[in-house]
Amino acid sequence: MCDNGHAHDHGSFGFLVDVPEIRQLIDETARQMADVSDNAERVEALKPAFARLLAADGWLPDPITRPDATSKMGGGIGQYALYRAEDGSLCLFALVVPADAATPVHDHLAWGLVGVYRGEQDETVYRRLDDGSNPSRAQLEIAKRQALGPGDFYALLPPTDDIHYVKTISKTASISIHLLANDTACVWRHQFDPGLGTVKPFRSGYANAPCPAD
Ligand SMILES: [Fe+2]
Repeated sequence: MCDNGHAHDHGSFGFLVDVPEIRQLIDETARQMADVSDNAERVEALKPAFARLLAADGWLPDPITRPDATSKMGGGIGQYALYRAEDGSLCLFALVVPADAATPVHDHLAWGLVGVYRGEQDETVYRRLDDGSNPSRAQLEIAKRQALGPGDFYALLPPTDDIHYVKTISKTASISIHLLANDTACVWRHQFDPGLGTVKPFRSGYANAPCPAD
């Protein structure tokens, strides 16, 4: 459905990578979104289908495994849309993080599942200590760190554990797969500097699809 009044390229929505493995996950997600109203229950119900995609070989096209020199996240990090619902309710994307590169500290503002497909990542999750009333300030402390390898995944259920960064710890680029209940790269979210206590608006963008105009 296209009801937000923005002009955009319809070829940039739907299945940008149209393979049975992705269709099976998106179909299952649509079923769960229709049937289950609780976010935590829905994410739990989607774990087997998400694990199947991470375990499957051969479905990720080579161009989507490469760094992106124009990345708005820096470090050559590539964010590639695999599926985008036109109404902004769901997306699936791959994040290519070159060796030794790390994302900025960021939030997601939507429930979802994130898992490693290739390589290894270290994830650092932050807990927010302030009440968020000042849009340019945030007081964060580290809540947990975890290392993830191929097939490992975790749930995002904002506001808990929604702020994190990931760093590649393998010798080659890591690739993680993200199923999230928004159009993650095109929504305005937040980038944090925990040391300075600052927040700024952040729209990461996809390497292979334009965002609607603001
Ligand atoms: Fe993230």
